[in-house]
Amino acid sequence: MAVIREKQGAAHTRIMGVGGYVPSRVVTNDEVITWIDSSDEWIRTRSGIAERRWGTPEETVLEMSVQSAGKALAAAGISGDQLGAIIVSTVSHFHQTPALACLVADRLGTNGAAYDISAGCAGFCYGVAQASDMVKAGSAEYVLVIGVERLSDLTDIHDRGTAFIFGDGAGAVVIGPSDTPGIGPVVWGAEGDKYDTITQTFAWNDKPEAEDGSDEVRGPFLRMEGQAVFRWASYQMAEVSLKALAEAGITAGDLDAFIPHQANNRITDRLVKVLGLPEEVPVARTIAEYGNNSAATIPLAMERMLADGTAPSGGLALLIGFGAGLVYAAQVVALP
Ligand code: UT7
Repeated sequence: MAVIREKQGAAHTRIMGVGGYVPSRVVTNDEVITWIDSSDEWIRTRSGIAERRWGTPEETVLEMSVQSAGKALAAAGISGDQLGAIIVSTVSHFHQTPALACLVADRLGTNGAAYDISAGCAGFCYGVAQASDMVKAGSAEYVLVIGVERLSDLTDIHDRGTAFIFGDGAGAVVIGPSDTPGIGPVVWGAEGDKYDTITQTFAWNDKPEAEDGSDEVRGPFLRMEGQAVFRWASYQMAEVSLKALAEAGITAGDLDAFIPHQANNRITDRLVKVLGLPEEVPVARTIAEYGNNSAATIPLAMERMLADGTAPSGGLALLIGFGAGLVYAAQVVALP
């Protein structure tokens, strides 16, 4: 009987380049409090958010993806046609088919594999894990991972629990082979029993009637049980962060940056404390200006910390994403 020949990829992988795109329109807390009963002070102290960016109609998920991908490819020194795969993580591409990744592939001029994933705010770290494994398995030499969201489209500006939280944007990385380990083991999982803590108000194909009987229903919009998610993130994600360090065989003192998902500054504070992160290790705090960009958050923060010199190229960073599902993923990476 014939034996199937298998493929072997690279021994190690790394992030070769990162790129980000944030929309031009700044939405301040002062604007938000014209929609909900709140205050600039409450939003800043309870979440850490001072402002967020929302896309104009032209700043679509496709345009933002292409912009961030272009920067990541240039930084990596890779052309679009060298990509073996494109993974796009998003919950705000409103077509079930075709996948946003295929539209991005068309714009970049590549015929590599292309598909979307839906893993909420953990989506970028999920994508990095998949891409790294692909390169190691030999199914692609270079993989583009994009996290992109237009959460403004999913935000009910009259919902006090979510109107102030979300922002739009895109971030991308190119992952490829490496001579030394550049992406540590992923610690990931899902707690599906908590699926109902972050939801959308109704399914895309299920437009309910308005209470007054008209067809004026807007949405679907995101809804969140803030306190429940806050507690889960503060406690379980601290454990996941510690586990990702242990799996990578390093300690918090070896880190050159900590880039957690930007859901709430108070969650970040708690993770920093439990990790015992030395004071000199820089921590991503993009939430102040960008809000929560879900899958785009971590690559956006990574790009910014490298660009402003807060984090060193080649340094070790702990990434952790967590959110709707509830899902999570964390890994240690070498910064591009
Ligand atoms: O990205 C996916 C993962 N997401 C997260 O991890 C988000 C986790 N959750 C959170 O970040 C926080 O729960 C929020 C920032 C969403 C809310 O903060 P909180 O401290 O959990 O607020 P709360 O719901 O416990 O409400 C505290 C108080 C209440 O008033 P009383 O009962 O103490 O008088 C609320 O009525 O704050 C009030 N409140 C508000 N006040 C002003 C709730 N929402 C608002 C608001 N503005 N928007």
